[in-house]
Amino acid sequence: MTTAITPLIAGNWKMNGTSVALAEVGRLAERLRAGAPPRATVLICPPATLLADLNRIAAPAGIVSGGQDCHPALSGAHTGDISAPMLADLGAQYVIVGHSERRADHGETSALVADKARAALASGLVPIICVGETEAERRAGQAVAVVTAQLAASIPEDWAGHSIVIAYEPVWAIGTGLTPTTQDIIDMHRAVRMTLEARFGARGAGVRILYGGSMKPANAREILAIEHVNGGLVGGASLLASDFYAIISAL
Ligand code: 13P
Repeated sequence: MTTAITPLIAGNWKMNGTSVALAEVGRLAERLRAGAPPRATVLICPPATLLADLNRIAAPAGIVSGGQDCHPALSGAHTGDISAPMLADLGAQYVIVGHSERRADHGETSALVADKARAALASGLVPIICVGETEAERRAGQAVAVVTAQLAASIPEDWAGHSIVIAYEPVWAIGTGLTPTTQDIIDMHRAVRMTLEARFGARGAGVRILYGGSMKPANAREILAIEHVNGGLVGGASLLASDFYAIISAL
């Protein structure tokens, strides 16, 4: 891990959790208050319906919050969508854009993801831009080419250096219990870092690159120790305070 970058451990609750789930945030807050200060920024991205109530519990413990998606426009006639300013208004500081589940379920293209990231930046949010190859693409030896192409097209052309985060999430590792080999993560995160530096110079060197896909207490220490892995984007294991705290503590 690059020592100059403060790591980020981000929980993505996906479409899980009603108000009952906020008890887990209370448990996590208690653990964080009782233990040594975390070596990472701790972020939870709950369903947008829970953001305001979550912040009341999370903020005093230093946990920040984020959305899971935003519309590329800042407002307008888009029934059912949520804009980046609405998320910011509820206290969110981050927003995930381009998660593979949205790319698959809603046909989101990298160009749309770049527009969403631009809306996030314009609203003062840090976009967490997700990229990742499918199993077929990895088998075909295309993983690095696919991910670097997604990266090139998903970062706004006019990105001017406000904070962004990249999350590498191999699609086949999400929710499956499968993870890439350590060497595969080393190779991919190095390729992402080189792509960012080639395009953005020193700014690219400071971007946090998260790994996501079946990160658990049992594998977090090994994955988080890899060079250019600056934290994790955690799905299932972020739903339980004990598991999420164990991952935070693995740093
Ligand atoms: P899992 O940790 O459940 O595999 O999900 C990863 C993910 O998609 C986070 O965005």
